Amino acid sequence: VSLKPYNTFGIEAQARYLVEISHENDLPALLLLHDFVDVPKLILGGGSNVLLRRDFDGLVVKMAIQGIEVVREDESHIYLSVGAGVNWHQLVAYCVAHGYAGMENLSLIPGTVGAAPMQNIGAYGVEIEQIFESLTAVHIPTGEYRTFTHADCAFGYRESVFKHELKGQYIITRVTFRLDKVPTFHTRYGAIQETLDAMGVSEDKLSIQAISDAVIHIRRSKLPDPAQIGNAGSFFKNPEISAEQFTQLKETYPDMPGYPLADGGVKLPAGWLIERAGWKGYRKDDAGVHAKQALVLVNYGGATGDELIALAQQVQASVYEKYGVCIQPEVNVI
Ligand code: EPU
Repeated sequence: VSLKPYNTFGIEAQARYLVEISHENDLPALLLLHDFVDVPKLILGGGSNVLLRRDFDGLVVKMAIQGIEVVREDESHIYLSVGAGVNWHQLVAYCVAHGYAGMENLSLIPGTVGAAPMQNIGAYGVEIEQIFESLTAVHIPTGEYRTFTHADCAFGYRESVFKHELKGQYIITRVTFRLDKVPTFHTRYGAIQETLDAMGVSEDKLSIQAISDAVIHIRRSKLPDPAQIGNAGSFFKNPEISAEQFTQLKETYPDMPGYPLADGGVKLPAGWLIERAGWKGYRKDDAGVHAKQALVLVNYGGATGDELIALAQQVQASVYEKYGVCIQPEVNVI
């Protein structure tokens, strides 16, 4: 089976088996099937955060469980249970339309609901952990369901327990979100306020719909649409360095941006480092660095996983050489 339609990088790779799961009950049955027990498995949602290096000699499980349901309500919150296969932006649009606040800043992020907690998706000052209540997942070796609370997930910046201790162990099938009836607006990040101003949204007219519109506008202006140019969003994470190293770097690069962290460190925008190292808009054959956002690697059509990896390594090495800062991939390399 070709995996090209199943990864937003648009890489041509083959899988031995592919099964689409639309019902929770089918998953334990599939995992315990004698023929598949010992076969390597790759779980895919929207395929928007993976880079396939080669063919996958195993079983690809494409999560397609649907459904958005209000399961509980209290004075100030709405609790929504959502199937892992629901498209992320479709859920955001649903919440914005119903006046459920909290995910509007996460508009237009590619991918599915089930994949979102894996890497604690985030954008424009909000991370999924801020609206996360719990999730259910199936243990791959036993087919048993387990509920994970917020604490169980050990969320961090683009991190969770599912990328570390429990890597490859669980398949997320359903996520419960806690949304606010009365919104708290997050407009301080980056270009949000200036975009709202440009859209003519005054403070008294601010709404989750307006914020969603502003985020969509910013993302469309910077990030390539995977339907047109293959990509997986940010390829690298923004690195965290010590305050001392930042002070030193500032002597050589006075205009280097940095965001102070609670632990005393500083987070650097990798896109800035990559751009200043001269990579923005670079292209070799069909692998490139996006011309409007240097943190995004792109496939112009025929790039292989190995070509993209080679480019990523060159970028990493050149950033390290120039600044002494190590940038790590954010996408999962398979
Ligand atoms: N910058 C540059 N050159 C570039 C790109 C960025 O100088 O080519 C500078 C910008 O000027 C700005 C700073 O870097 O000062 C931050 O840029 P931006 O707001 O575009 O965000 P980012 O740090 O590059 C992160 C997330 C994105 C998310 C945006 C907005 C990571 C790895 N990436 O990118 O998430 O959409 O913030 O919140 O944290 C993703 O994870 O796939 C993703 C797209």
